[in-house]
Amino acid sequence: METALVNTAYLIAASLFILGLKQMGRPKTAVRGNLTGALGMAIAVGATLVGIWRRDEPLGYIILGTLIGVGVGAILAIRIQMTAMPQLVALFNGFGGGASVFVAGADLIQSAGRATDPEAEVAVLVATALSGIIGAVTFWGSLVAFGKLQEFKWMRKPIHIPAQQVVNAALAVLMVAVAAFMVMNGSPLLYVVLVLVASVLGLFLVNPIGGADMPVVIALLNSYSGLAAAATGFVINNNVLIVAGSLVGASGVILTNLMCKAMNRSLFNVLFGVMEGGSASADADDIYANVRSTSPEEVAMILETAERVVFVPGYGMAVAQAQHAVRNLGLMLEENGATVEYAIHPVAGRMPGHMNVLLAEADVDYEQLKEMDVINPTLETADVAIVIGANDVVNPVARTDPQSPIAGMPIIDIDKARTVIVIKRSLSPGFAGIPNPLFAMENTLMLFGDGQQAVLDIVAAIKES
Ligand code: TAP
Repeated sequence: METALVNTAYLIAASLFILGLKQMGRPKTAVRGNLTGALGMAIAVGATLVGIWRRDEPLGYIILGTLIGVGVGAILAIRIQMTAMPQLVALFNGFGGGASVFVAGADLIQSAGRATDPEAEVAVLVATALSGIIGAVTFWGSLVAFGKLQEFKWMRKPIHIPAQQVVNAALAVLMVAVAAFMVMNGSPLLYVVLVLVASVLGLFLVNPIGGADMPVVIALLNSYSGLAAAATGFVINNNVLIVAGSLVGASGVILTNLMCKAMNRSLFNVLFGVMEGGSASADADDIYANVRSTSPEEVAMILETAERVVFVPGYGMAVAQAQHAVRNLGLMLEENGATVEYAIHPVAGRMPGHMNVLLAEADVDYEQLKEMDVINPTLETADVAIVIGANDVVNPVARTDPQSPIAGMPIIDIDKARTVIVIKRSLSPGFAGIPNPLFAMENTLMLFGDGQQAVLDIVAAIKES
């Protein structure tokens, strides 16, 4: 009876997870989707605790762990900057993977000597091995991803390991062999060895991946953390963990696929096509020889006669928190009779949907946000394009230089607009670490300065004119 009640609660929780995911698919319902998912998780955790309590098992450690987790989670959620969100997601993925390793390992130790059906035993041991492997790869891979996104100096360039792919293949073979022995005799010691080998593989797999590919890796590790959780669900026979883990695994794979498409790269290429920053032909001094800078007053004059203005927001807009100023400038231009649109690149910023979130926060109408594929064919008719803190996502070398680290990545073809104003503080490169010839094109003017201040200065100049 009790099991039936707990399973019913799990079923409700699983339905809420699915509903939440569906709601998260649209900006308008995304916040509600998050709350729906959280409600599902609260029901799942509550039902699990009730189950443990009814079986007279000790609850003290679980409650202590939950309180610590809630405390750390609340502090992180309140204090984290929007720009650091991908690092936080990387850490969440990693801790999810790490938790799976420990839960599966603890069950293995506890079950030693427990009499079970031998066939079921093998299935559980296979799931334990999978939890250990996927969880450890996720944990260490996520820590490397965190370090890279946090831009720790010593992690910006990958550590070079000779014959990396051969070493990885050897580690993978060793891992499968250890897993097979572990499944045969259920040894906790072999489980520890398995986790150690998988940990080294996790470090080695993510180490060579760099620059613009990191978002894909985060999405993939997100999927891994789900798969590890699902495997652990089989180990401890917990239905809701299996369902939730599978949902995370599946949605992570879908996101990975979408991001690969946005960068025009295959997943194989992302994972094994070692990327180094910068291309042979990318000499910044030559490329920037003809850069022309402008002033807020000149930009105000150009905008006065513009009929169609397209903003291209990027990571720098997030850093400068310029979204409200940009929206005000947009409203002013509309009052002046211009059509205003926002060109959104799928990987602009540092997380999926980053620009949509910022612009929604500033109450920009969804209708004005145009996806890259929709706006690109129309850019030749844009009178003025204002690129604010975007760099890689408008870098034309993606189209022209096959040696470039971002070669083949679809970009916003903003160089096709009649006049391009680029607002950024300097000629520093973006995330991929390469120069951008857009800044020196004939139709481009650079407005150097902090994104928010520059836009406020343009607004002031328009008011004065
Ligand atoms: P980036 O190429 O990273 O360029 C951002 C630019 O913003 C920099 O060149 C910087 O130039 C400027 N900037 C920084 N602070 C500023 C401020 N306060 N005011 C004005 N400008 C400022 O950005 P992007 O074009 O959005 O491209 C995103 C990149 O990140 C891509 O390579 C993408 O693959 C990668 N990435 C994306 C994600 C996701 S999921 N979106 C996750 C991780 C990585 P200055 O220093 O000269 O000002």
